[in-house]
Amino acid sequence: MPNLRKFSPLLLLAIFAFVGCRQDMHDQPRYKPLAQSDFYPDMRSARQPVEGTVARGQLHEDTYFYTGMVGNKPGDYMPFPVTQDVLERGQQRFDIYCTPCHSRNGDGKGAVVQRGFQSPPSYHTDRLRNAPLGYFFGVITNGFGAMPDYAEQVPPRDRWDIVAYIRALQLSQNATQADVPAGQKVPSAAPEFRGDPGSGATLPLPAPPSQNKTGEDSK
Ligand code: HEC
Repeated sequence: MPNLRKFSPLLLLAIFAFVGCRQDMHDQPRYKPLAQSDFYPDMRSARQPVEGTVARGQLHEDTYFYTGMVGNKPGDYMPFPVTQDVLERGQQRFDIYCTPCHSRNGDGKGAVVQRGFQSPPSYHTDRLRNAPLGYFFGVITNGFGAMPDYAEQVPPRDRWDIVAYIRALQLSQNATQADVPAGQKVPSAAPEFRGDPGSGATLPLPAPPSQNKTGEDSK
């Protein structure tokens, strides 16, 4: 113990020094939120922002982009052009945030539902196929019945990407030959194949790997 005693005054000093610092930080002059002040003539410690001030990220001038509403009805257009990137982002976000309940193809039989959560309606009903795009944006933003909102997790731009992807999903589950662009159509050649595979009718499907491709294996 004698050793320790030798150092104790120093130790004590150090402790006081630290406590002192700490106390100082606590006691520095400051106002509690909205407390009265006698420094300003209007007695307010909270100052009015300079006129015309807009907090960053709060200038929601494009109402449609942030609400999906035109007046008091959901609108039915995308606020920006839909590209392949938009759809891919939408698919990725959808797969993360919506598939647990709605499933990958949107039939409402996601993993959480299979374990007992309330089953959402399939996206592939006439009602939801005809629902305007802004309606889907609204459901993600505000929630719907038993479904919580995803406004916090999914920013507006991503919500629109998801909306575009849902519409693509709906089209994909309800497509006809007429929806396939000319030139990409697969002729409905199935009957010609029946019983006579050698008739010469062909489907424009990828050809079997040809002999000259065998070199690829040696890569
Ligand atoms: C936790 C499960 C769950 C998740 C995750 C979820 N939903 Fe839902 N969703 C539901 C349920 C349940 C309903 C039906 C609610 C009701 O009718 O009370 C629903 C309904 C809907 C509807 C149909 C509304 C109508 O008019 O019937 C849409 C559109 C929808 N969800 C979109 C989404 C999108 C987009 C996401 C991802 C951002 C998502 N949901 C994520 C559970 C979920």
